[in-house]
Amino acid sequence: MTTWFTDLEISKKLIISIMIASSILTLMITMVQLYIDFSKDIRSIESRFTIIRENYLPILKQSLWTVDENQLIVQAQSILKFPDIQFVKIVTDSNKTFAFGRKQPSRIISQSFEIVSTQVVLKKPLGTVYIEASLTSAYDRLLSRVTIIFFSQILKTFIISLFIYFLVYQFIIRHLTQISTYFRRLRLDNLSQELVLQRPLMQNPRDEIDILTLGINKMRLNLRDEVIAKEDVEQDLRLLNVELENKVKARTQELQNSLNELQNFYNFVSHEMRTPIAAIQPYIRGLQKGMRCSPLDDQQLVHLNVIERNVERLLSLVNQVLDLARAETRLDTEHHHVIDLHTLILLITEQFKGLFTDDVVLQLEFAPQDFSIKASQDHVESILANLISNAGKYTQAGMIKIRTIPWEGGVQIFVSDTGAGIDAEHLSTIFDRFTRVNDNHQIKGTGLGLYLVKRFVDQLGGTIECSSVKGEGSTFCVWLPCQ
Ligand SMILES: Nc1ncnc2c1ncn2[C@@H]1O[C@H](COP(=O)(O)OP(=O)(O)OP(=O)(O)O)[C@@H](O)[C@H]1O
Ligand SMILES: [Mg+2]
Repeated sequence: MTTWFTDLEISKKLIISIMIASSILTLMITMVQLYIDFSKDIRSIESRFTIIRENYLPILKQSLWTVDENQLIVQAQSILKFPDIQFVKIVTDSNKTFAFGRKQPSRIISQSFEIVSTQVVLKKPLGTVYIEASLTSAYDRLLSRVTIIFFSQILKTFIISLFIYFLVYQFIIRHLTQISTYFRRLRLDNLSQELVLQRPLMQNPRDEIDILTLGINKMRLNLRDEVIAKEDVEQDLRLLNVELENKVKARTQELQNSLNELQNFYNFVSHEMRTPIAAIQPYIRGLQKGMRCSPLDDQQLVHLNVIERNVERLLSLVNQVLDLARAETRLDTEHHHVIDLHTLILLITEQFKGLFTDDVVLQLEFAPQDFSIKASQDHVESILANLISNAGKYTQAGMIKIRTIPWEGGVQIFVSDTGAGIDAEHLSTIFDRFTRVNDNHQIKGTGLGLYLVKRFVDQLGGTIECSSVKGEGSTFCVWLPCQ
């Protein structure tokens, strides 16, 4: 079937199918009927030929034998009176021809009869009688029958199709249309609206349409119950959510208060510890330089240097503990500033330069553009300071290089050195708390630096990776998102 037919409404499809099927059937029946009628006409002409042969030929034989021309004419004309017989021709044995009636070029059926003398002694041919019957009236009858059958069948087909269409529309299609309109208008908030068809609905369904209507209404009621149940659950969930949110708010507030108290405590402790340590340092330097006292001997100077190193270490420890507290409590994440990365790197390298040995060359290679990072300055500073100080600490001679390049909406900061390097087996643990993996025990440290770096990088939404070859150097790559 072509698409235009499949796209039609059911009613139109039905009426077209009925008309085509009925017309083909009508045509076949008509052809059979016409064939039978035509055969009947031919048979009746043939029976006329038989009557003529049996009744007229003996008389014609007599006339030919006696050469009675008047009798021949009378006989030929009475043959012509038979229905459909149009032409009679008699040829005598002396080749004399008598022709009667009108000869037709086509649509004919003919027969010739040899007339032979039946005398016992002398059997001789007397002549030939040729008779022609016209089929014109048979064809005319055929045509008028075709016309009548054709038009009457078409009319019948049309009326029956219309009647079937009316029935189908009345019993099925109009209800289906109503059902489809109902479904088109059905929404979750009007599920109480019943499907009512334009026909009386019985308690017990009478036909398929009734069963369908009852089924749809049952489904609608089930759906409505489900929607109501779902709304109840949603309402309960909303209430629970509100309750939960309030509880979370209260807990968050409590935690915030505790954190504030903790931060205050850390600030207090570090301040209280840093102040006396800082107060000791100038006295140590004064003693080293021999101020306000007689110059110290070598043994005393060695002792004083030990005191100075340990005081510095104590100060660095206090500072790291404070950093650790910040990293664990995340209090600083609220106080973000826009930081210009290159300026900060320059500031930090300036501070650390003095700590590098003379055999170390520092190289900076910045990307042409500036990078602005929104973060707590302390955090970014801590990240850079720890990486740069490690590079300096673990590189006795060689090069320290700091490089920045733009990368995926942020910046990649490479801090590389040609120092001690790290064993491949230790690379996965260097970011753990209190992990130290260097063999040189002269180099002091607590193993907290990289742990803090990782924490701060994570808090800023960045990533950190380390690649290193033992004895050749290390590269730390930090990616931070930019504004
Ligand atoms: N640039 C580097 N070259 C070689 N080894 C390094 C480098 N950076 C870190 N390490 C190794 O990783 C370990 C952990 O480093 P981390 O900064 O956490 O601790 P630390 O430097 O030992 O102590 P601190 O807490 O004072 O920083 C170090 O002990 C060191 O063995
Ligand atoms: Mg360190």
